[in-house]
Amino acid sequence: MKAAVLHEIGGVPRYEDFPDPVAGDDEVVIDVLAVAVENVDKLIAAGTHYAGRRYTARLPAIPAFDGIGALPDGTLVGFGNPRLPYGALAEKTVVPQGAYVAIAEGIDPATAAVLGTAITGMSIRTAAGFVPGETVLVQGATGVAGRLAVKVARLLGAGRIVATGRDDDQLREVRDLGADTVINTAVPDEALARAYLDAKGDGYDVVLDYLWGRPTEVLLRSLVPETFAFPRPTRLVQVGGSAGGGLTLAAESLRTSGVEIYGAAKGLGPQTMHEAYSQVVAWARSGELTFDVVKVPLSDIETAWQRTDLRGSRLVVVP
Ligand SMILES: NC(=O)c1ccc[n+]([C@@H]2O[C@H](COP(=O)([O-])OP(=O)(O)OC[C@H]3O[C@@H](n4cnc5c(N)ncnc54)[C@H](OP(=O)(O)O)[C@@H]3O)[C@@H](O)[C@H]2O)c1
Repeated sequence: MKAAVLHEIGGVPRYEDFPDPVAGDDEVVIDVLAVAVENVDKLIAAGTHYAGRRYTARLPAIPAFDGIGALPDGTLVGFGNPRLPYGALAEKTVVPQGAYVAIAEGIDPATAAVLGTAITGMSIRTAAGFVPGETVLVQGATGVAGRLAVKVARLLGAGRIVATGRDDDQLREVRDLGADTVINTAVPDEALARAYLDAKGDGYDVVLDYLWGRPTEVLLRSLVPETFAFPRPTRLVQVGGSAGGGLTLAAESLRTSGVEIYGAAKGLGPQTMHEAYSQVVAWARSGELTFDVVKVPLSDIETAWQRTDLRGSRLVVVP
């Protein structure tokens, strides 16, 4: 079969022949139909993801650990956990029996490959208990996940949405998607802190944070009150680290600001995951939630992997 094959950590996968997978006991071979290429796949291939070492322990290997495909009986499924060194970026892969879920009818494979990214936006509800009318700050709204989060927050009934990014053109696009106010983070710390304060109105109820690093450090510092007034609570959900893997959190910041920090996995279980998935599927079917994807054939993987011009669209490889 043809596959995207990674030969060295830090390399770019190449379109090559690779032995067909053969199902062992309790395994099934999947015909792959669509794979979203995400930052996590690149970090794993680069050897810089905290949980990625097992995927590159044996090379050559096929990157990406989930995707959309068909079972031998033709059922469309979302699959995960391929048996290494098989990955999703190939014509076929092999996964344990049951390591898949049926894709809802009426959702095409490329869209199905991006549903998981939209579900990160649902964590304002699953992790932070968002209720309609609340003010949401989406930190890092110009990326694929952030843009979808702005749309999801709007659909969930956010009262006001503030969105950040570092490019004015893209921030204009995010405003068109439903953000009320946008902030460019590419300014000195003082100016950024002022922008967060100017935009917060009565306060941020929920922050959905895809950035971490400097912008979120400045945000947290800006929420420290200048009086002994009781702070209004802000629930920050940590989802991504596009601006950095760490930050300095001053003790007084946490002690006085009323900020509560959660991981996006908080509140996720089979039931809440099912509810979030069903909601996103319903919006996708009705056309209320749209997904910007750039589809490329597997044969273009080498060029596609290195693209930097996607501007909030998800690269989806269609083998
Ligand atoms: N996709 C998922 O399903 C998923 C799930 C869980 C967590 N995450 C994490 O969430 C984060 C975003 O994922 P994504 O798929 O949306 O990535 P993406 O499409 O690559 O978007 C990242 C965005 O962050 C912006 N950015 C980078 N540094 C910034 C800074 N210092 N200030 C402001 N904006 C900055 C980038 O702006 P430029 O365009 O200007 O570079 C880009 O628009 C990643 O850390 C990812 O690992 C993603």
